[in-house]
Amino acid sequence: MRKIAILNFKGGTGKTTTAINLGHALSLKDYKVLIILTINAS
Ligand SMILES: Nc1ncnc2c1ncn2[C@@H]1O[C@H](COP(=O)(O)OP(=O)(O)O)[C@@H](O)[C@H]1O
Ligand SMILES: [Mg+2]
Repeated sequence: MRKIAILNFKGGTGKTTTAINLGHALSLKDYKVLIILTINAS
């Protein structure tokens, strides 16, 4: 299982957009994809 982290402490920098589109692209290539979105509660 390969894990890809997309992180940046700043909001609105395209983390979610990148995760969704990368996940979708990989799924079209027949990879099984699980996307876990976390929020920074500091
Ligand atoms: N590559 C990009 N070019 C232009 N706008 C983008 C790009 N990536 C994301 N956005 C826009 O920026 C905003 C914040 O993106 P989002 O993925 O929600 O950021 P984050 O998850 O880091 O808070 C959204 O309105 C999104 O559509
Ligand atoms: Mg987000």
